[in-house]
Amino acid sequence: MQTLLGKHILLGVTGGIAAYKCAELVRRLRDEGAEVRVVMTRSATEFVTPLTFQALSGHTVHTDLLDPEAEAAMGHIELARWADAVLIAPATANMIGKLAQGIANDLLSTLCLATQAPIAVAPAMNHIMWSDQATQDNINTLRNRQIAVFGPAFGNQACGETGEGRMLETTELIEKLASIFSHESLRNTRVLITAGPTYEAIDPVRFIGNRSSGRMGFAMAEAAIEAGAKVTLIAGPVHLKTPPKVDRIDVESARQMHQAVMSQIDDCDIFIATAAVADYSPAQTHDQKLKKTEETLSIQLRRNPDILAEVAATGKVFSVGFAAETEQLEDHARKKLQSKQLDLIAANQVANHDRPDEDTGFNSEYNALDIYWANGHIQLEKARKTELARKLINIIAEHYKNKH
Ligand code: PMT
Repeated sequence: MQTLLGKHILLGVTGGIAAYKCAELVRRLRDEGAEVRVVMTRSATEFVTPLTFQALSGHTVHTDLLDPEAEAAMGHIELARWADAVLIAPATANMIGKLAQGIANDLLSTLCLATQAPIAVAPAMNHIMWSDQATQDNINTLRNRQIAVFGPAFGNQACGETGEGRMLETTELIEKLASIFSHESLRNTRVLITAGPTYEAIDPVRFIGNRSSGRMGFAMAEAAIEAGAKVTLIAGPVHLKTPPKVDRIDVESARQMHQAVMSQIDDCDIFIATAAVADYSPAQTHDQKLKKTEETLSIQLRRNPDILAEVAATGKVFSVGFAAETEQLEDHARKKLQSKQLDLIAANQVANHDRPDEDTGFNSEYNALDIYWANGHIQLEKARKTELARKLINIIAEHYKNKH
């Protein structure tokens, strides 16, 4: 189940007898390649010890909102940001009620308010509690807020009665959780993505490069796969694993990237230029390592082809650019949108010296994006690149559909 590979799953365990089944759930999620962190409510610890989940997840289990030690390791806001999805299993009637009312009086309920990740609940309770109008009203409130409700199933219950209220089996929970990450908004669509930096050789050992890690572009490729697209990723020199199902072509320089893009462009519907492509490269690449002789050294640079502008000018492909700006974000991004004839541009502020705590953009796990198109704008607040990529892919899919 490749959609859970590398995903950060925050498992919230609440106080019900089905909590014991979650030990197996953690193990199976890890088998699927997910990274799991567990948060338990106080009453959940009456059923299963935190040590069990610590051993199975490989991470400290979080139980308290006001635990200085846990906050020092990974605070509740960091946990909320870390999650790609939050699964509450088992979800008691009490926790469902708290979520419906927006009550935040323990770590798990607070995390649910603080996260931007999708949330799913797997109810488990006595069948009469489940069918009670209050529970059903709360469940409907959650559904209306796009919180996924997995189950419950019908069957024998721990209390000895039979009815609807059993937590779904581990396999079903995993399938449903994986389906959160796969939607079909780009089905039958071919997407070409560039990612990472380019290296422009000066001599056999030196180059002009930049700080792009490739994370944003790889996250876009993964999100496009989840959306059902066929994805080709043209990557500059990066140290990242290829996301499952993605066809990858490795290049080093801007000119190689240009060539690789042009060789693929006839087979693509959407082009997303996430790469930080060098605008210039040395006019001459020396065959031998340059020796230090003079006090100063000048290297003459020549303009590289603008890959994105060239693709967009064909008019055949839906073209999405990125803009890395250190100032006047909107002005510069809109100019690029217009001059390169793009359908959309995603602008990010980089090298923000005024706010070094921001940690977004180049070589960070986080980013914040302002998306511009001819007559609109949407802001995506700071989040992990994987999460932003999913949102951006949805926006791209919507605009692409409207255009066709
Ligand atoms: O890789 P990460 O560490 O995750 O960082 C992500 C990122 C900051 C690199 C990414 O979010 C980003 O902003 N990428 C674009 C960086 C950039 O080069 O921006 P630009 O404003 O210089 O270029 C504008 C657009 O034209 C970009 O889509 C770029 O890919 C494209 N371009 C630029 C020059 C060129 N010769 N050919 C191009 O296709």
